[in-house]
Amino acid sequence: MDGRELVRSMKVFGSVQGMRAVWSAWRQRRTDAWGLPPRGAERARVPGLAVEAEPAPGGGTVRFARSSLLIRVSSGGTVFWGWDGAEPLPSYALAGEAPDADPRASLEPDTHGGWRIVSERVTVTVSRHGAVELRTPGGVLLRRDLPPRWWEPVAAEDAGPGAGGRTGAVAGDGAGPAADGSAGPAAGGGRWVQRSEVPADARFFGLGGRAAGPRLRDGTYRLWNTDPQRGFGPGDDPLYLTMPVQFVVSDAGTHLAFHDNSWDGRVTLAEGEEGAGSGHDRPGTSEVRMTGGPLRCWVVVGTPARVLHGWAALTGAPALPPSWALGPQHARWGFGSAREVRRVVAGYRERGLPLSALHLDIDHYDGHRVFTVDRERFPDLPGLAEELREQGVRLVSIVDPAVKAEPGDPVYDGGVAVDAFVKDARGQEARGVVWPGECAYPDFTDPAVREWWGGLYEERLRQGFAGVWHDMNEPVSFVPFGEPTLPRSTRHALEGRGGDHREAHNVYGLAMARAGYEGLCRLRPDERPFLFSRSGWAGMQRYGGTWSGDVATGWPGLRASLSLVLGLGLCGVPYSGPDVGGFDGSPSPELFLRWYQLGAWLPLFRTHAAIDAGRREPWEFGPEVLEHARVALAERERLRPYFTTLARLARMTGAPYVRPVWWGTPEDRALRDCEDAFLLGDALLVAPVLTRGADRRAVRLPRGRWYDTATGRAYEGPGQVLLDAPLSRVPVLARAGAVLPVRGEGDELVLEVWAPAAGRTGGGLVVRDTGDGWEPASIERYQSRLVDGRVVVERVTDDGVEEPGPAVRVRGL
Ligand code: GLC
Repeated sequence: MDGRELVRSMKVFGSVQGMRAVWSAWRQRRTDAWGLPPRGAERARVPGLAVEAEPAPGGGTVRFARSSLLIRVSSGGTVFWGWDGAEPLPSYALAGEAPDADPRASLEPDTHGGWRIVSERVTVTVSRHGAVELRTPGGVLLRRDLPPRWWEPVAAEDAGPGAGGRTGAVAGDGAGPAADGSAGPAAGGGRWVQRSEVPADARFFGLGGRAAGPRLRDGTYRLWNTDPQRGFGPGDDPLYLTMPVQFVVSDAGTHLAFHDNSWDGRVTLAEGEEGAGSGHDRPGTSEVRMTGGPLRCWVVVGTPARVLHGWAALTGAPALPPSWALGPQHARWGFGSAREVRRVVAGYRERGLPLSALHLDIDHYDGHRVFTVDRERFPDLPGLAEELREQGVRLVSIVDPAVKAEPGDPVYDGGVAVDAFVKDARGQEARGVVWPGECAYPDFTDPAVREWWGGLYEERLRQGFAGVWHDMNEPVSFVPFGEPTLPRSTRHALEGRGGDHREAHNVYGLAMARAGYEGLCRLRPDERPFLFSRSGWAGMQRYGGTWSGDVATGWPGLRASLSLVLGLGLCGVPYSGPDVGGFDGSPSPELFLRWYQLGAWLPLFRTHAAIDAGRREPWEFGPEVLEHARVALAERERLRPYFTTLARLARMTGAPYVRPVWWGTPEDRALRDCEDAFLLGDALLVAPVLTRGADRRAVRLPRGRWYDTATGRAYEGPGQVLLDAPLSRVPVLARAGAVLPVRGEGDELVLEVWAPAAGRTGGGLVVRDTGDGWEPASIERYQSRLVDGRVVVERVTDDGVEEPGPAVRVRGL
């Protein structure tokens, strides 16, 4: 640790910054007191009885006494429904236009006085009271969304869609005031609640990046991107990246439900219970409660793979990271100088440890100001970048959204000139406190501001950076009390529609990612941008990935690291990883090693730590840890072609690299509860060690034959096996029949093939690295089978089968 930097930051943040934060918190309170409409009496409303239906392609509109419901099934089997005139657009989540309606599907009366839509993949019914049910083509229930309830300001009621003599309860009505103390409904209409039911055996996943799980236990989860302001563990909620995305797995099938609404909200989940054949199942329930905004939902049904494919079609294909971003990366807050950076990189080189990228945190800025460099500590950053580049190491820069509000600061002046910064309801610049002190915040929901901001990345490229790391974009403002973000009354452009922070907050990081991504594409059109962002929302995968944020050092933090990556993958964000070793404090050598051994199998493999935390270089934990870390690194490098393939497949299909073990067999209920292992692509099952002192662990296997890759021993799933997990490695199993690309001795591509079980076949896909540009890649398809005790591998082409090009290495025979 750089003591000087620590002392300096203690000085800055201890006193002056503390005072500023107190003032800022008080100011935030006052701003909202006059900036938000007061919360008056409210009237509750429910849809009432159905009056008529108007069919249209894909579905139609059902009119109720006090509301209307638009419902539309698209050709791919994706269902949209929206109440009170809510349409798919505008939306921050959607990648473009809404998918085309299925022309063959339409509303028709059913036998219960309601309506139904029959399509190839899903049957939808709408009851007379406004419950929407989704069933499989075979008639099995997947989800039932019950009639919603709204609370609206009484004064606004006459203008509302429910006008017409409705009597309703005033605020209270069991729901009470918005639990977060916000002023409640205004511009966004009323707050609302909707309960849904899922099959009794269903398990919930998703809701963005959650620290516990990935199976979401009974409880309430908040939808409000939040910096926990300290190292977090499994009990902390919410975190930086929330999303109203539920991924539900049950015997009946898998579905994803997305409430497209960025307002503050809460989701209460309760798993169901089966009545052991009595026919009295208690369904699982979800209750979504939003403080405003539209009530509209997308539901995608199918197998897990199909669901995420449909989700990627709706919200955009994941950005493809440049090839080098699949290699090992090292970060730290507080390298403090070019000399220290050189020392660390040399440490890797001298020990023969591969390193792809090194990340510079806010301590390389001049006074913590974004888009600047401390020239005393980093006198020639472009030169340093060049020097590292020759050694195969890229530099990545942190980018914080808040700009020091100081006239004379070029970034601030430039922002003022284009009217970039958010304002309060009276038109004054809304300010907060972040690392550089008093700050202004760009309004990324304004296209012109995004364009201005994206242009600023030119300076980063000039400094020699190859990628960016977006931080503090929940957005954060330090406060000793209240919420660590902008006042809710802060005004935002919202693409010209206008609105306030209540609606813009959750999409702030997403819109910043868009600004950065598009800026980098303009500035350096020949290379794919490398961007990952702490905060975000549904659809952020279009621009890049994310990471854990400040996960607390400790065994619970290690576990949370895996929950986050798995959960985010099910929300469509496939590229992520934790701060390996944990953000704060000093991990024991054992904990560091186990974290390293987990990280090596995750898409973003990066060590990182706080300025006052202990070291994270693998050689700082003694010779034994170094040797085991070396093995993990070597395996990561050997598997680079497999990671390249998984990155491409994620882009093409939406399937995350890292998948829950139930991915291919969601009907295996025991697997739905397994949270300590994961599939890496189709071929591998990784069982990291997440507990102290373990030298073996139980591993639950999906059906089929699996080989322990260390011993070659075969096991038959489904079932549980006990495997050795000495400090030197974590158990990794390969699926029988799998064909996966690995790096051979001379860096050439080799096909590793795991013997199929007798009478079975296998296979795998390979997508080759085409560099860091935009060149398209093609998928090579291989199949494997066992003939007279010999493994035969063939490449499948449009014209038949042929000998595979790459060398084949058979294992497991
Ligand atoms: C935040 C980030 C962390 C970073 C620090 C300083 O805490 O989550 O990764 O090191 O800010 O920039």
